[in-house]
Amino acid sequence: MRHFISVNDVSDLQSLTKEALALKKNPYQFKELGKNKTIGLIFLNPSLRTRLSTQKAAQNLGMNVIVMNMDKEGWALETQDGVVMNHNTVEHIREAAAVMGEYCDIIGVRSFPRLVDRQEDYSEDFFNKFIKYSGVPIVSLESATRHPLQSFADLITIEETKKVARPKVVLTWAPHIKALPQAVPNSFAEWMNKAEVDFVITHPEGYELAPEFSGNATIEYDQDEALKGADFVYVKNWSSYKDYGKVITMDSYWMMDHEKIALTNDARVMHCLPVRRGIELADEILDGPNSIVIQEASNRVWSAQAVLKKILESNF
Ligand code: CP
Repeated sequence: MRHFISVNDVSDLQSLTKEALALKKNPYQFKELGKNKTIGLIFLNPSLRTRLSTQKAAQNLGMNVIVMNMDKEGWALETQDGVVMNHNTVEHIREAAAVMGEYCDIIGVRSFPRLVDRQEDYSEDFFNKFIKYSGVPIVSLESATRHPLQSFADLITIEETKKVARPKVVLTWAPHIKALPQAVPNSFAEWMNKAEVDFVITHPEGYELAPEFSGNATIEYDQDEALKGADFVYVKNWSSYKDYGKVITMDSYWMMDHEKIALTNDARVMHCLPVRRGIELADEILDGPNSIVIQEASNRVWSAQAVLKKILESNF
């Protein structure tokens, strides 16, 4: 593995999942692997889980970790080529990424979409330039269109919790007061489409994900119908891909509560967090026995550690 940007960077999903679960049992087995290697974690947006879990994962492998909140502590970055930089941007991504590549053996980057121009966001120009100019392996800490470390942790959580060999997994849209990226649902769909699960996506009309992400999933516009017999329900809001970046409904009927869970096969409820209580998910679910959101967040360490281990083994 050179970079970790999407599920397509994983050659064998089952084997990587097994490796992550083995690391969970024995976190310090490869403490020498990352000795004298440095990872830089560069955040252009806020984070709790990604920042702490990736830092912990790298430390478990013996790596040095540098964290930079680029949005607050760094120079304003220019990403367009050929521009005269006589406005607010101070440093071009060409120099910034190249310099970071001199200090770090691996770089993790988080950069959210602007949700203004779909073509711009879905081109992943920022990540592609980081890969090009840094010269070192790049790990996505969430890009404009994907959140692969989250999706991998989600898969690990399903694997260790499932009660049947091929569970029914339902990704359901949930209401929210703000326009959120499609990165988490896109990525979850991309990973579930490659996993041994029956995968259903449910959302109000107008919230269809990009076809390259929804893939072969069953799309069901009736949430109650979709939830029938579900073993896992993955709750997440996203803004419209069609009417790009727009909130087209906030219908509270879509919030997961006890009545909705009663339709399922006593489903385990997942959410990547942070979650807005009483809007996306009812307190009674988050505080009840069906919720596995903390286990899911905990597994972020093992998804990151398995990925960093692969990159260390393949590149150094
Ligand atoms: N789920 C997730 O990525 O959380 P953070 O935004 O807090 O990192």
